[in-house]
Amino acid sequence: MSILKEKTVAASKTEVSHLLCNKDMNGAGRLFGGQLLMWIDEVAGIVAKRHCECNVTTASIDNLQFKEACYLNDVIVLIGYITHVGHSSMEIRIDTYVEKSNGQRFPVNRAFFVMVALDENDRPTEVPRLIISSIEEQAKWDAAEKRIELRKTRREEGF
Ligand SMILES: CC(C)(COP(=O)(O)OP(=O)(O)OC[C@H]1O[C@@H](n2cnc3c(N)ncnc32)[C@H](O)[C@@H]1OP(=O)(O)O)[C@@H](O)C(=O)NCCC(=O)NCCS
Repeated sequence: MSILKEKTVAASKTEVSHLLCNKDMNGAGRLFGGQLLMWIDEVAGIVAKRHCECNVTTASIDNLQFKEACYLNDVIVLIGYITHVGHSSMEIRIDTYVEKSNGQRFPVNRAFFVMVALDENDRPTEVPRLIISSIEEQAKWDAAEKRIELRKTRREEGF
């Protein structure tokens, strides 16, 4: 009988910062959206791998918005953490901020990724249970359950 591990949200929480350089900008002198997506995907992958301790793949991405323009020499901060686990899937939330020279942070984007844990045959495999340690984490779990239902409906409707 296999005993499935349990892990906290804090155990896989990840924060990454990037200093915006010329190679990160688009022709209009702002952060290139594709670069941000790559960084967000990377953080989601790190959080998921830290939780399940195996290979993962991205099944879906929800919500990319660009609420604040980001310019050369700004610092971009990405904070990712797990909100929900299913059988083989994990929902990861990634908040992105732009940090100005005075240290003030402004929200740029909030994304929800569904990452799936893969076994040695590249097939979905069961992930550790998530220990919910606070009312806030419970609220995030409950909100994730609603999004999971929405995603199922959208898939059924070919969205
Ligand atoms: C994601 C993938 C592994 C799912 O494989 P599958 O054969 O459909 O497996 P399942 O039906 O058992 O789904 C596995 C889990 O993923 C979830 N899932 C599958 N497709 C999903 C989607 N489009 N959106 C959200 N969740 C999804 C299922 O709900 C299930 O969750 P659960 O185990 O927690 O209940 C498979 O579709 C795949 O490999 N896709 C390509 C992913 C990829 O290459 N990403 C890199 C970016 S290009």
